[in-house]
Amino acid sequence: MHIALYKPDIPQNTAAIIRLGACLNLKIHIIEPCGFDLNDARFKRVVMDYLGFSKIFRYIDYDSFLSKNKKKRIVLMTTKAKRLYHKFNFKKNDILLFGRESAGVPKSLHKRIYNKVKVPMNKKTRSLNVAMSVAIISAEALRQNNLLK
Ligand SMILES: C[S@@+](CC[C@H](N)C(=O)[O-])C[C@H]1O[C@@H](n2cnc3c(N)ncnc32)[C@H](O)[C@@H]1O
Repeated sequence: MHIALYKPDIPQNTAAIIRLGACLNLKIHIIEPCGFDLNDARFKRVVMDYLGFSKIFRYIDYDSFLSKNKKKRIVLMTTKAKRLYHKFNFKKNDILLFGRESAGVPKSLHKRIYNKVKVPMNKKTRSLNVAMSVAIISAEALRQNNLLK
């Protein structure tokens, strides 16, 4: 199972997702540019030794991410989706794509991706924290594929 982060803004969120990836055997794809320096010593301190247990792939932009992952299905996680994450059938090799904290993904990208799902929320709220949404959705995707062991 793969997690892709579209131009993440907030180092603490990316650090939490990298740690989650290390613990649950999720491959992490980071589509740059990020709103912070991935090589910054402070970022590495937050990620701690989990960096050593992680499989992280970095791309200079979305097109380069696409060209390296042609055979995988990309599923976009967005509050604007109609389908609910727990009713969606995830496949073992899916890439679960999450938007940036400040703006999600651009409309043009939204239109290009067919599979989109959401975590249902209280209608008065705007969105989950991105790391929380990764944890909720990846747990369900792993469960469906019997990968939680
Ligand atoms: C803080 S949210 C982005 C909010 C942004 N203002 C927007 O309009 O998309 C960051 C990312 O977390 C994920 N996310 C947050 N809440 C979600 C939900 N209820 N269902 C699915 N994904 C969610 C999405 O991938 C989203 O792009």
